[in-house]
Amino acid sequence: MGSVRAMASTRLLCLLNARVADSTKTLARACWSVCPRRHIGSSPSRLHGCMSAWVIDQYGTNGVLKYTEEVPVPTVSSPSEVMIKVHAASLNPLDTSMRGGYGAKLLKLRRDPMSVMDSDSEFPLILGRDVSGVVVDCGSEVTHVVPGDEVWAAVPPWKQGSLAEFVTLTEYEVSHKPKSLSHTEAASIPYVANTALSALVNAGGLCRDSSSNKRVLITGGSGGVGTFSIQLLKAWGAHVTVTCSQNAEGLVRGLGADEVVDYTAGDSLEQLEMMERFDVILDNVGGETEQWAMGLLKPWSGAKYVTLVTPLLLNTDSLGLLDGMFQAGFSLQCKAIQNIMSTGVFYRWGFYAPDGPALDEVSKLVDAGKILPVVEAQFPFTQVPQAFQKLENGHARGKTVVRVAEEDDKWAEELVQSARSESEQEVREAANLN
Ligand SMILES: NC(=O)c1ccc[n+]([C@@H]2O[C@H](COP(=O)([O-])OP(=O)(O)OC[C@H]3O[C@@H](n4cnc5c(N)ncnc54)[C@H](OP(=O)(O)O)[C@@H]3O)[C@@H](O)[C@H]2O)c1
Repeated sequence: MGSVRAMASTRLLCLLNARVADSTKTLARACWSVCPRRHIGSSPSRLHGCMSAWVIDQYGTNGVLKYTEEVPVPTVSSPSEVMIKVHAASLNPLDTSMRGGYGAKLLKLRRDPMSVMDSDSEFPLILGRDVSGVVVDCGSEVTHVVPGDEVWAAVPPWKQGSLAEFVTLTEYEVSHKPKSLSHTEAASIPYVANTALSALVNAGGLCRDSSSNKRVLITGGSGGVGTFSIQLLKAWGAHVTVTCSQNAEGLVRGLGADEVVDYTAGDSLEQLEMMERFDVILDNVGGETEQWAMGLLKPWSGAKYVTLVTPLLLNTDSLGLLDGMFQAGFSLQCKAIQNIMSTGVFYRWGFYAPDGPALDEVSKLVDAGKILPVVEAQFPFTQVPQAFQKLENGHARGKTVVRVAEEDDKWAEELVQSARSESEQEVREAANLN
Protein backbone atom coordinates (compact mmCIF):
# COMPACT_ATOMS: atom_id res chain seq x y z
CA MET A 1 0.00 0.00 0.00
CA GLY A 2 2.89 2.27 -0.63
CA SER A 3 3.67 2.90 3.01
CA VAL A 4 6.96 4.57 2.11
CA ARG A 5 5.19 7.06 -0.11
CA ALA A 6 2.59 7.60 2.56
CA MET A 7 5.30 8.10 5.15
CA ALA A 8 6.88 10.70 2.89
CA SER A 9 3.56 12.50 2.50
CA THR A 10 3.01 12.42 6.23
CA ARG A 11 6.47 13.79 6.93
CA LEU A 12 5.83 16.52 4.36
CA LEU A 13 2.62 17.37 6.17
CA CYS A 14 4.52 17.60 9.43
CA LEU A 15 6.84 20.15 7.87
CA LEU A 16 3.83 22.08 6.62
CA ASN A 17 2.41 21.88 10.15
CA ALA A 18 5.23 23.74 11.68
CA ARG A 19 4.70 26.50 9.15
CA VAL A 20 0.96 26.68 9.77
CA ALA A 21 1.50 26.87 13.51
CA ASP A 22 4.15 29.55 13.13
CA SER A 23 2.16 31.63 10.71
CA THR A 24 -0.89 31.60 12.92
CA LYS A 25 1.03 32.88 15.93
CA THR A 26 0.90 36.52 14.83
CA LEU A 27 -2.81 36.34 14.03
CA ALA A 28 -3.38 34.68 17.37
CA ARG A 29 -1.77 37.38 19.41
CA ALA A 30 -3.95 39.97 17.72
CA CYS A 31 -7.20 38.10 18.15
CA TRP A 32 -7.16 36.14 21.37
CA SER A 33 -5.85 36.44 24.84
CA VAL A 34 -3.25 33.71 24.98
CA CYS A 35 -3.13 31.80 28.22
CA PRO A 36 0.07 32.06 30.21
CA ARG A 37 1.71 28.65 29.80
CA ARG A 38 3.00 27.36 33.07
CA HIS A 39 3.89 23.99 34.39
CA ILE A 40 0.48 22.42 34.65
CA GLY A 41 0.17 20.98 38.07
CA SER A 42 3.18 20.17 40.11
CA SER A 43 1.98 17.56 42.51
CA PRO A 44 -0.30 14.55 42.65
CA SER A 45 -2.58 16.54 44.95
CA ARG A 46 -3.93 18.16 41.79
CA LEU A 47 -5.68 14.85 41.15
CA HIS A 48 -8.21 16.05 43.73
CA GLY A 49 -8.16 19.76 42.93
CA CYS A 50 -8.46 21.95 39.86
CA MET A 51 -6.96 21.61 36.43
CA SER A 52 -6.28 23.72 33.36
CA ALA A 53 -8.70 23.47 30.46
CA TRP A 54 -10.12 25.39 27.55
CA VAL A 55 -13.84 25.79 28.21
CA ILE A 56 -16.84 27.57 26.77
CA ASP A 57 -19.48 29.16 29.01
CA GLN A 58 -21.77 29.96 26.08
CA TYR A 59 -22.08 28.99 22.43
CA GLY A 60 -20.58 31.25 19.79
CA THR A 61 -17.59 31.99 17.61
CA ASN A 62 -13.95 31.49 18.58
CA GLY A 63 -14.13 34.31 21.14
CA VAL A 64 -16.08 32.08 23.54
CA LEU A 65 -13.09 29.76 24.03
CA LYS A 66 -11.63 30.53 27.45
CA TYR A 67 -8.53 29.22 29.19
CA THR A 68 -8.97 28.54 32.89
CA GLU A 69 -7.14 26.77 35.68
CA GLU A 70 -10.26 26.45 37.79
CA VAL A 71 -11.98 23.38 36.36
CA PRO A 72 -12.51 20.60 38.89
CA VAL A 73 -10.47 17.53 38.03
CA PRO A 74 -12.84 14.83 36.68
CA THR A 75 -12.17 12.12 39.23
CA VAL A 76 -13.03 8.44 38.85
CA SER A 77 -16.57 8.16 40.14
CA SER A 78 -17.63 4.71 39.00
CA PRO A 79 -15.91 1.30 39.14
CA SER A 80 -15.53 1.15 35.34
CA GLU A 81 -13.94 4.57 34.87
CA VAL A 82 -10.41 5.42 33.85
CA MET A 83 -8.80 8.80 34.44
CA ILE A 84 -6.29 9.88 31.83
CA LYS A 85 -3.62 12.57 31.96
CA VAL A 86 -3.99 14.15 28.53
CA HIS A 87 -0.79 14.53 26.51
CA ALA A 88 -2.36 15.41 23.17
CA ALA A 89 -5.83 16.07 21.82
CA SER A 90 -7.06 16.64 18.30
CA LEU A 91 -9.87 18.63 16.77
CA ASN A 92 -12.68 17.47 14.50
CA PRO A 93 -15.27 19.49 12.56
CA LEU A 94 -17.67 18.54 15.36
CA ASP A 95 -15.67 20.70 17.79
CA THR A 96 -16.19 23.90 15.84
CA SER A 97 -19.85 22.97 15.32
CA MET A 98 -20.38 22.20 19.03
CA ARG A 99 -18.66 25.46 19.97
CA GLY A 100 -21.47 27.15 18.03
CA GLY A 101 -24.22 25.13 19.73
CA TYR A 102 -24.63 22.33 17.17
CA GLY A 103 -26.33 19.31 18.67
CA ALA A 104 -26.87 21.07 21.98
CA LYS A 105 -30.37 19.71 22.61
CA LEU A 106 -29.68 16.05 21.87
CA LEU A 107 -26.27 16.02 23.54
CA LYS A 108 -27.70 17.66 26.64
CA LEU A 109 -30.36 14.97 26.82
CA ARG A 110 -27.68 12.28 26.47
CA ARG A 111 -25.48 13.94 29.12
CA ASP A 112 -28.13 14.48 31.70
CA PRO A 113 -31.71 13.47 30.90
CA MET A 114 -33.06 15.09 34.07
CA SER A 115 -31.66 18.57 33.47
CA VAL A 116 -32.72 19.04 29.86
CA MET A 117 -34.93 21.99 30.79
CA ASP A 118 -32.04 23.81 32.47
CA SER A 119 -30.66 25.91 29.64
CA ASP A 120 -27.09 26.27 30.97
CA SER A 121 -26.52 22.85 32.51
CA GLU A 122 -23.77 21.84 30.09
CA PHE A 123 -21.43 24.75 30.91
CA PRO A 124 -18.55 25.07 31.39
CA LEU A 125 -18.17 22.75 28.43
CA ILE A 126 -14.82 21.27 27.42
CA LEU A 127 -14.41 20.42 23.73
CA GLY A 128 -11.87 18.04 22.13
CA ARG A 129 -12.81 14.55 20.98
CA ASP A 130 -9.47 12.72 20.85
CA VAL A 131 -7.02 11.92 23.57
CA SER A 132 -3.64 10.29 23.80
CA GLY A 133 -2.21 10.17 27.29
CA VAL A 134 -1.35 8.17 30.37
CA VAL A 135 -3.71 6.43 32.80
CA VAL A 136 -3.43 7.96 36.28
CA ASP A 137 -6.34 6.34 38.10
CA CYS A 138 -8.75 3.44 37.60
CA GLY A 139 -12.05 2.34 39.11
CA SER A 140 -12.14 -0.89 41.08
CA GLU A 141 -13.58 -2.97 38.22
CA VAL A 142 -11.13 -1.85 35.54
CA THR A 143 -9.04 -4.78 34.33
CA HIS A 144 -7.78 -3.78 30.88
CA VAL A 145 -5.51 -0.86 31.87
CA VAL A 146 -3.54 0.20 34.96
CA PRO A 147 -2.00 3.51 36.04
CA GLY A 148 1.02 4.24 33.91
CA ASP A 149 -0.37 2.69 30.72
CA GLU A 150 -0.20 4.82 27.59
CA VAL A 151 -3.67 4.94 26.08
CA TRP A 152 -5.70 6.60 23.38
CA ALA A 153 -9.45 7.13 23.06
CA ALA A 154 -12.19 9.03 21.30
CA VAL A 155 -14.16 11.09 23.80
CA PRO A 156 -17.92 10.84 23.14
CA PRO A 157 -19.47 14.24 22.33
CA TRP A 158 -21.73 13.98 25.38
CA LYS A 159 -18.73 13.83 27.73
CA GLN A 160 -16.32 16.53 28.83
CA GLY A 161 -13.59 16.73 26.19
CA SER A 162 -9.84 16.40 26.02
CA LEU A 163 -8.75 20.04 25.81
CA ALA A 164 -7.89 19.74 29.47
CA GLU A 165 -5.25 18.27 31.73
CA PHE A 166 -7.37 15.24 32.57
CA VAL A 167 -10.30 13.39 31.07
CA THR A 168 -12.29 10.53 32.56
CA LEU A 169 -13.79 7.82 30.35
CA THR A 170 -15.13 4.33 30.77
CA GLU A 171 -12.78 1.41 30.33
CA TYR A 172 -14.72 0.37 27.21
CA GLU A 173 -13.85 3.65 25.49
CA VAL A 174 -10.11 3.39 26.18
CA SER A 175 -7.47 1.40 24.32
CA HIS A 176 -3.70 0.97 24.52
CA LYS A 177 -2.03 3.52 22.26
CA PRO A 178 0.16 2.20 19.42
CA LYS A 179 3.73 1.89 20.68
CA SER A 180 5.16 3.24 17.44
CA LEU A 181 3.44 6.63 17.70
CA SER A 182 4.10 9.70 19.80
CA HIS A 183 1.14 11.08 21.74
CA THR A 184 0.84 13.88 19.18
CA GLU A 185 0.58 11.41 16.33
CA ALA A 186 -1.70 9.05 18.24
CA ALA A 187 -4.19 11.80 19.10
CA SER A 188 -4.91 12.27 15.39
CA ILE A 189 -6.60 8.90 15.02
CA PRO A 190 -9.24 7.71 17.57
CA TYR A 191 -12.32 9.78 16.70
CA VAL A 192 -11.96 9.37 12.94
CA ALA A 193 -11.12 5.68 13.43
CA ASN A 194 -14.20 4.98 15.57
CA THR A 195 -16.34 6.93 13.09
CA ALA A 196 -14.93 5.24 10.00
CA LEU A 197 -15.19 1.78 11.56
CA SER A 198 -18.75 2.37 12.67
CA ALA A 199 -19.71 3.66 9.22
CA LEU A 200 -17.85 1.06 7.17
CA VAL A 201 -18.56 -1.98 9.35
CA ASN A 202 -21.98 -1.36 10.94
CA ALA A 203 -23.56 0.61 8.11
CA GLY A 204 -21.40 -0.41 5.13
CA GLY A 205 -21.24 -4.12 5.97
CA LEU A 206 -17.49 -4.31 5.35
CA CYS A 207 -14.90 -6.07 7.50
CA ARG A 208 -11.31 -7.20 7.34
CA ASP A 209 -12.18 -10.57 5.83
CA SER A 210 -14.82 -9.47 3.32
CA SER A 211 -13.29 -6.42 1.67
CA SER A 212 -10.72 -7.84 -0.74
CA ASN A 213 -13.09 -7.99 -3.69
CA LYS A 214 -14.96 -4.79 -2.86
CA ARG A 215 -14.84 -1.48 -4.72
CA VAL A 216 -15.24 1.47 -2.36
CA LEU A 217 -15.65 5.16 -3.20
CA ILE A 218 -14.68 7.69 -0.52
CA THR A 219 -15.81 11.27 -1.07
CA GLY A 220 -13.87 13.94 0.81
CA GLY A 221 -10.89 11.58 1.01
CA SER A 222 -8.35 14.25 2.03
CA GLY A 223 -9.82 15.04 5.47
CA GLY A 224 -9.57 13.29 8.82
CA VAL A 225 -12.08 10.49 8.20
CA GLY A 226 -11.03 10.10 4.56
CA THR A 227 -7.29 9.74 5.14
CA PHE A 228 -7.92 7.12 7.83
CA SER A 229 -10.55 5.24 5.80
CA ILE A 230 -8.33 4.96 2.74
CA GLN A 231 -5.61 3.29 4.79
CA LEU A 232 -8.00 1.01 6.69
CA LEU A 233 -9.67 -0.19 3.49
CA LYS A 234 -6.34 -0.74 1.76
CA ALA A 235 -5.17 -2.74 4.81
CA TRP A 236 -8.33 -4.83 4.35
CA GLY A 237 -7.57 -5.31 0.66
CA ALA A 238 -10.37 -3.23 -0.89
CA HIS A 239 -10.08 -1.26 -4.13
CA VAL A 240 -10.36 2.41 -3.14
CA THR A 241 -11.40 5.36 -5.27
CA VAL A 242 -11.25 8.83 -3.74
CA THR A 243 -12.64 12.24 -4.58
CA CYS A 244 -10.62 15.24 -3.41
CA SER A 245 -9.15 18.52 -4.61
CA GLN A 246 -6.33 18.31 -7.13
CA ASN A 247 -3.69 19.43 -4.61
CA ALA A 248 -4.57 16.52 -2.31
CA GLU A 249 -4.01 13.85 -4.95
CA GLY A 250 -0.39 13.17 -3.89
CA LEU A 251 -1.47 12.72 -0.28
CA VAL A 252 -4.32 10.28 -0.93
CA ARG A 253 -2.30 8.29 -3.49
CA GLY A 254 0.51 8.13 -0.94
CA LEU A 255 -1.94 6.64 1.54
CA GLY A 256 -2.87 3.96 -0.97
CA ALA A 257 -5.84 5.24 -3.01
CA ASP A 258 -6.07 3.29 -6.25
CA GLU A 259 -7.95 5.92 -8.23
CA VAL A 260 -8.36 9.61 -7.55
CA VAL A 261 -10.89 12.01 -9.03
CA ASP A 262 -10.44 15.76 -8.68
CA TYR A 263 -13.92 16.98 -7.76
CA THR A 264 -13.05 20.52 -8.79
CA ALA A 265 -12.49 19.42 -12.39
CA GLY A 266 -15.55 20.02 -14.55
CA ASP A 267 -15.85 16.40 -15.62
CA SER A 268 -15.53 14.64 -12.23
CA LEU A 269 -18.96 13.00 -12.42
CA GLU A 270 -18.32 11.82 -15.97
CA GLN A 271 -15.02 10.29 -14.77
CA LEU A 272 -16.78 8.47 -11.95
CA GLU A 273 -19.57 7.29 -14.24
CA MET A 274 -17.03 5.75 -16.60
CA MET A 275 -15.65 3.57 -13.80
CA GLU A 276 -16.89 0.15 -12.78
CA ARG A 277 -19.76 0.54 -10.24
CA PHE A 278 -19.02 0.54 -6.50
CA ASP A 279 -20.04 -1.81 -3.66
CA VAL A 280 -19.86 0.85 -0.97
CA ILE A 281 -19.72 4.64 -0.96
CA LEU A 282 -18.54 6.44 2.20
CA ASP A 283 -19.71 10.03 1.82
CA ASN A 284 -17.79 12.57 3.89
CA VAL A 285 -19.16 15.53 1.95
CA GLY A 286 -22.94 15.27 1.96
CA GLY A 287 -25.18 17.90 0.38
CA GLU A 288 -25.68 17.33 -3.34
CA THR A 289 -23.28 14.38 -3.33
CA GLU A 290 -25.96 11.86 -2.45
CA GLN A 291 -28.03 12.85 -5.46
CA TRP A 292 -25.42 11.65 -7.94
CA ALA A 293 -23.61 9.10 -5.78
CA MET A 294 -26.50 6.63 -5.62
CA GLY A 295 -26.23 6.04 -9.38
CA LEU A 296 -22.60 4.95 -9.01
CA LEU A 297 -23.47 1.90 -6.90
CA LYS A 298 -23.97 -1.62 -8.25
CA PRO A 299 -27.74 -2.13 -8.56
CA TRP A 300 -29.50 -5.10 -6.95
CA SER A 301 -26.35 -6.51 -5.38
CA GLY A 302 -26.45 -5.31 -1.76
CA ALA A 303 -24.45 -2.14 -2.44
CA LYS A 304 -24.52 0.50 0.30
CA TYR A 305 -24.35 4.27 0.41
CA VAL A 306 -23.27 5.54 3.85
CA THR A 307 -23.21 9.24 4.60
CA LEU A 308 -21.61 10.82 7.67
CA VAL A 309 -23.31 14.12 6.97
CA THR A 310 -26.76 13.68 8.44
CA PRO A 311 -29.44 16.20 9.46
CA LEU A 312 -30.20 14.54 12.82
CA LEU A 313 -28.60 17.10 15.16
CA LEU A 314 -29.54 20.07 12.98
CA ASN A 315 -33.15 18.90 13.07
CA THR A 316 -33.24 18.47 16.84
CA ASP A 317 -31.60 21.88 17.26
CA SER A 318 -34.11 23.66 15.08
CA LEU A 319 -37.30 21.63 15.65
CA GLY A 320 -36.82 20.37 19.20
CA LEU A 321 -36.05 16.84 20.33
CA LEU A 322 -39.25 15.02 19.42
CA ASP A 323 -40.08 16.78 16.16
CA GLY A 324 -36.42 16.84 15.14
CA MET A 325 -35.93 13.12 15.70
CA PHE A 326 -39.20 12.31 13.99
CA GLN A 327 -38.32 14.47 10.99
CA ALA A 328 -34.84 12.94 10.72
CA GLY A 329 -36.18 9.40 11.07
CA PHE A 330 -38.89 10.04 8.50
CA SER A 331 -36.43 11.47 5.99
CA LEU A 332 -34.06 8.50 6.51
CA GLN A 333 -36.86 5.96 6.05
CA CYS A 334 -38.17 7.68 2.90
CA LYS A 335 -34.75 7.70 1.26
CA ALA A 336 -33.99 4.14 2.35
CA ILE A 337 -37.29 2.82 0.95
CA GLN A 338 -37.04 4.82 -2.27
CA ASN A 339 -33.51 3.57 -3.03
CA ILE A 340 -34.06 -0.06 -2.11
CA MET A 341 -37.25 -0.16 -4.20
CA SER A 342 -35.81 1.57 -7.27
CA THR A 343 -32.25 0.20 -7.52
CA GLY A 344 -31.81 -2.31 -4.69
CA VAL A 345 -29.25 0.00 -3.04
CA PHE A 346 -29.12 0.50 0.75
CA TYR A 347 -29.18 4.14 1.91
CA ARG A 348 -27.70 4.57 5.42
CA TRP A 349 -26.43 7.12 7.90
CA GLY A 350 -23.13 6.58 9.67
CA PHE A 351 -22.31 7.82 13.15
CA TYR A 352 -19.34 7.89 15.48
CA ALA A 353 -19.64 5.18 18.11
CA PRO A 354 -17.32 4.74 21.12
CA ASP A 355 -15.42 1.46 20.80
CA GLY A 356 -12.16 0.78 22.62
CA PRO A 357 -11.82 -2.80 21.33
CA ALA A 358 -12.00 -1.46 17.76
CA LEU A 359 -9.15 0.92 18.63
CA ASP A 360 -7.16 -2.08 19.88
CA GLU A 361 -7.38 -3.50 16.33
CA VAL A 362 -6.42 -0.14 14.81
CA SER A 363 -3.46 0.02 17.19
CA LYS A 364 -2.19 -3.28 15.76
CA LEU A 365 -2.53 -1.99 12.20
CA VAL A 366 -0.64 1.18 13.16
CA ASP A 367 2.18 -0.75 14.82
CA ALA A 368 2.33 -2.99 11.75
CA GLY A 369 2.91 0.14 9.62
CA LYS A 370 -0.38 -0.27 7.75
CA ILE A 371 -1.97 2.91 9.06
CA LEU A 372 -0.04 6.14 9.43
CA PRO A 373 -1.12 9.23 11.33
CA VAL A 374 -1.73 12.20 9.05
CA VAL A 375 -1.04 15.24 11.19
CA GLU A 376 -1.44 18.36 9.11
CA ALA A 377 -1.02 20.94 11.86
CA GLN A 378 -0.10 20.91 15.51
CA PHE A 379 -0.51 23.64 18.09
CA PRO A 380 0.63 24.06 21.70
CA PHE A 381 -2.01 24.15 24.44
CA THR A 382 -1.66 27.92 24.57
CA GLN A 383 -3.00 28.17 21.02
CA VAL A 384 -6.27 26.26 21.10
CA PRO A 385 -8.24 29.15 19.50
CA GLN A 386 -5.73 29.20 16.65
CA ALA A 387 -6.21 25.45 16.21
CA PHE A 388 -9.98 26.01 15.97
CA GLN A 389 -9.37 28.76 13.41
CA LYS A 390 -7.21 26.42 11.35
CA LEU A 391 -9.99 23.84 11.36
CA GLU A 392 -12.63 26.41 10.49
CA ASN A 393 -10.64 27.57 7.48
CA GLY A 394 -11.48 24.17 5.97
CA HIS A 395 -9.49 22.26 3.33
CA ALA A 396 -8.18 19.82 5.92
CA ARG A 397 -5.42 17.45 4.85
CA GLY A 398 -5.62 14.99 7.71
CA LYS A 399 -5.81 16.22 11.30
CA THR A 400 -5.11 19.21 13.53
CA VAL A 401 -3.57 18.23 16.87
CA VAL A 402 -3.13 20.13 20.14
CA ARG A 403 -0.13 19.26 22.32
CA VAL A 404 -1.65 19.49 25.78
CA ALA A 405 1.32 18.41 27.88
CA GLU A 406 4.83 19.02 26.73
CA GLU A 407 6.67 20.53 29.64
CA ASP A 408 5.38 18.29 32.35
CA ASP A 409 6.25 14.77 31.32
CA LYS A 410 8.39 14.46 34.42
CA TRP A 411 5.45 15.53 36.54
CA ALA A 412 3.22 12.94 34.85
CA GLU A 413 5.75 10.27 35.70
CA GLU A 414 5.72 11.42 39.33
CA LEU A 415 1.94 11.33 39.28
CA VAL A 416 1.85 7.79 37.97
CA GLN A 417 4.52 6.75 40.45
CA SER A 418 2.46 8.28 43.25
CA ALA A 419 -0.74 6.55 42.09
CA ARG A 420 1.17 3.26 41.91
CA SER A 421 2.58 3.74 45.43
CA GLU A 422 -0.90 4.58 46.72
CA SER A 423 -2.41 1.42 45.24
CA GLU A 424 0.54 -0.66 46.45
CA GLN A 425 0.02 0.82 49.91
CA GLU A 426 -3.68 -0.09 49.72
CA VAL A 427 -2.82 -3.64 48.74
CA ARG A 428 -0.35 -3.88 51.65
CA GLU A 429 -2.94 -2.49 54.06
CA ALA A 430 -5.55 -4.95 52.78
CA ALA A 431 -3.06 -7.81 53.16
CA ASN A 432 -2.27 -6.72 56.73
CA LEU A 433 -5.96 -6.60 57.57
CA ASN A 434 -6.35 -10.14 56.33
N1 LIG B 1 -21.97 11.40 11.69
C1 LIG B 1 -20.90 11.36 12.48
O1 LIG B 1 -20.92 10.77 13.58
C2 LIG B 1 -19.65 12.05 12.01
C3 LIG B 1 -18.41 11.76 12.63
C4 LIG B 1 -17.27 12.35 12.13
C5 LIG B 1 -17.36 13.24 11.05
N2 LIG B 1 -18.57 13.52 10.51
C6 LIG B 1 -18.70 14.45 9.39
O2 LIG B 1 -18.05 13.84 8.28
C7 LIG B 1 -17.48 14.84 7.46
C8 LIG B 1 -16.00 14.50 7.25
O3 LIG B 1 -15.33 14.60 8.49
P1 LIG B 1 -13.76 14.89 8.50
O4 LIG B 1 -13.34 14.87 9.91
O5 LIG B 1 -13.06 14.01 7.54
O6 LIG B 1 -13.76 16.39 7.92
P2 LIG B 1 -12.50 17.23 7.43
O7 LIG B 1 -11.28 16.72 8.10
O8 LIG B 1 -12.87 18.66 7.55
O9 LIG B 1 -12.34 16.84 5.87
C9 LIG B 1 -13.23 17.22 4.88
C10 LIG B 1 -12.45 17.08 3.55
O10 LIG B 1 -13.33 17.11 2.46
C11 LIG B 1 -12.73 17.87 1.39
N3 LIG B 1 -13.83 18.33 0.56
C12 LIG B 1 -14.64 19.41 0.74
N4 LIG B 1 -15.59 19.43 -0.21
C13 LIG B 1 -15.40 18.34 -1.00
C14 LIG B 1 -16.07 17.82 -2.14
N5 LIG B 1 -17.14 18.42 -2.67
N6 LIG B 1 -15.60 16.66 -2.67
C15 LIG B 1 -14.51 16.03 -2.15
N7 LIG B 1 -13.83 16.49 -1.08
C16 LIG B 1 -14.28 17.63 -0.51
C17 LIG B 1 -11.96 18.95 2.13
O11 LIG B 1 -10.86 19.47 1.39
P3 LIG B 1 -11.04 20.59 0.23
O12 LIG B 1 -12.12 21.54 0.68
O13 LIG B 1 -9.71 21.27 0.12
O14 LIG B 1 -11.39 19.83 -0.99
C18 LIG B 1 -11.42 18.17 3.34
O15 LIG B 1 -10.18 17.57 3.03
C19 LIG B 1 -17.71 16.17 8.18
O16 LIG B 1 -18.84 16.79 7.64
C20 LIG B 1 -17.97 15.75 9.62
O17 LIG B 1 -18.77 16.69 10.30
C21 LIG B 1 -19.72 12.94 10.97
